[in-house]
Amino acid sequence: MADPPATAPDLAPPPTGFGRGYLYDLWYVAALSDELKPGKLKRYELLGEPVLLGRDLQGRAYALRDICPHRAAPLSAGRLVPGEGGGSEVECPYHGWRFRTADGVCAAIPSLVAEQAFDSSRIRVRRFFVDERQGLVWIWMAENPRGAAEPNSVPPTFEGVVGGRPKLVERMVFESHIDHAVVGLMDPAHGPYVHQQWWWRSSTSQHDKAKRFEPRELGFAMARHAPSKNSRAYRILGGAPETEITFRLPGLRWEHVRVGARQVLALTCLTPLDESRTRITQVMWSDHPAFTLLKPVVRAGVRRFLAQDGGVVNLQKEGLKYDPALIWLDDADRQAKWYQALKREWAAHRREGRPFRNPVQATTLKWRS
Ligand code: FES
Ligand SMILES: [Fe+2]
Repeated sequence: MADPPATAPDLAPPPTGFGRGYLYDLWYVAALSDELKPGKLKRYELLGEPVLLGRDLQGRAYALRDICPHRAAPLSAGRLVPGEGGGSEVECPYHGWRFRTADGVCAAIPSLVAEQAFDSSRIRVRRFFVDERQGLVWIWMAENPRGAAEPNSVPPTFEGVVGGRPKLVERMVFESHIDHAVVGLMDPAHGPYVHQQWWWRSSTSQHDKAKRFEPRELGFAMARHAPSKNSRAYRILGGAPETEITFRLPGLRWEHVRVGARQVLALTCLTPLDESRTRITQVMWSDHPAFTLLKPVVRAGVRRFLAQDGGVVNLQKEGLKYDPALIWLDDADRQAKWYQALKREWAAHRREGRPFRNPVQATTLKWRS
């Protein structure tokens, strides 16, 4: 047995559900607006559900469960057709049953003959509420699949969506449960080991850090500050950049950089595909001239970062499969503990039918990296 670490870690067991369940009744990023073309049917997977995501003939985004209620053919393999009253319908590729994109109700069963008075509207495929803003398509993942209740919140809007369309979009799938992907994303101590590259920082340049954190809606933020001196990548922006990093349930993290009147927003969205795979979507906006100029460099950098994070998360899976106890060490792992506390509170406030109380207290966290 190894000696206990000098700084007493919090050995409290992880909350039940860590590494298991999903958070429901929240908005998840499903796609970018540009990906959805009218008439094109696309299959996605979200929280273990196959989802057909598309754009109807009027240009509105819609989402249906991608399983035909008749005999389970994927509706995404069918086609979009004009429906009654100016709506749109998805036609199943197997027997041609048609479902309204607006509410999932079955509008036609072609095999019925005139005297078979079967009311097709008794059948419906699950539809998901969709919202589209700032070029992102959000999907409301309700706990109760039969619930017809409207979402009780709207997706977040972000400061710093500037300069027109995103300057960069990168996607990757981590072979990991969303919880470990989130914790990996907010972990401040892995940088010098996982992200060693000359343009970022060298492993020998570690500094004591002290950063101010504040509670924010469904999460917390590292308050606006000048980036660390050993972060070379900020130098391309010139001037005196100030950055703020925010985390929000279920798996959103964004860094908003201001340099004078110019801005950069780097948004990272984690969406579970299933319990062991998580899609990471990285989107960046900016009106900073250096950003346009150095786009290929930034893209290469982001890819490298994601590949490094993905690589270490995949490696970690080799250990996690034995379900070991984990150590959450203050202050470097405090954000990971907040994430777990936020998740617990999310479940508790819904169970108890009361407002959400953010468990995060404003504080300064210190670590070396
Ligand atoms: S399986 Fe879809 S119509 Fe039969
Ligand atoms: Fe990382």
